[in-house]
Amino acid sequence: MQTKLGHYTSEINSYSPSSADELEQFRIRFLGTKGIIKDLFDEFKTVSAEEKRVLGKVLNEFKKLAEEKYQTLKERLEAGEQKSEAKVDLTLPGEGFETGGRHPLSLVRKEIIEIFKKLGFNVAEGPEIEDDWHNFSALNFPQEHPARDMQDTFFIKKDAEAGDIALRTHTSSVQVRMMENGKPPFRAIMPGRVYRNEAISARAHCFFHQVEGLYVDEGVSFADLKQTLYYFVQELYGEGTKVRFRPSYFPFTEPSAEMDVSCSICKGAGCQMCKYSGWVEILGCGMVDPNVLENCGIDSKKYTGFAFGMGIERITNLKYEIRDLRLFSENDVRFLKQFKTELI
Ligand code: PHE
Repeated sequence: MQTKLGHYTSEINSYSPSSADELEQFRIRFLGTKGIIKDLFDEFKTVSAEEKRVLGKVLNEFKKLAEEKYQTLKERLEAGEQKSEAKVDLTLPGEGFETGGRHPLSLVRKEIIEIFKKLGFNVAEGPEIEDDWHNFSALNFPQEHPARDMQDTFFIKKDAEAGDIALRTHTSSVQVRMMENGKPPFRAIMPGRVYRNEAISARAHCFFHQVEGLYVDEGVSFADLKQTLYYFVQELYGEGTKVRFRPSYFPFTEPSAEMDVSCSICKGAGCQMCKYSGWVEILGCGMVDPNVLENCGIDSKKYTGFAFGMGIERITNLKYEIRDLRLFSENDVRFLKQFKTELI
């Protein structure tokens, strides 16, 4: 026991922990309920009465040494910590940090949604990978019909029997899903990403974002369509913005139209953005073709509806005078930073 004590004493004397964790290990090893000192006292009980007289004193001194060492080390560590804390100069100005901003397309999508919400339109979403039925056939695009070429499609799987699988070319597919799964009236907008197999340039991209809208109920007319879109444009571009409708063609609407607005940049005077015409086309629209209603299980004798669809990129370009579509997907912070103030 004497030799053991000599050994432990030199260990304690030279001990120097560098952290509170290490010191805690020391405490457990020597002073813990299952520690060395406890063991030594147990052993002490077994020695002869004569030895006890000598050892008792030595052992008590050893215990005191361990306790005192622990106490001084603890104080020293705590003082050290305070010292390093004191190095922080709280009077220095804080380091600035940069906040992120919303992407311009997100800003405009949000704005469009807010306007239609005021008119009682819900927001509906659907899958980006679609089958032929939802993207084309239900929307009155007959098989092998040239209208399918209006939208250059990325096919994922060609399957003449089960139907092709493709990346959706428009969010009209969400309208089909909505009508198939519910009962009229429907009043919703469908924002989402769509894909077209086009060469990437300043004016075209292989993906872009749309917001389409659908309103189906008894007695819905073209006048409702015009009034709804007129209201939308006044809210988006400001009061006094003019609109005009030009006849057009979409397989799923009849009659169909394209809507132009007076150029928000030159106010109709003519500029590069509107190609000096004073007008810019922003959306396609029309009365839902009765075939489409029937395809989705809706009685076309009882119900009528209108639909419209617009590209968010086009609207954003006009709003912020952006002339190159590629900027939206390049993640160049110099471009994105310019929209930072509009954090909402
Ligand atoms: N789906 C059409 C497109 O992507 C837009 C549209 C929607 C036109 C609804 C008319 C009605 O070009």
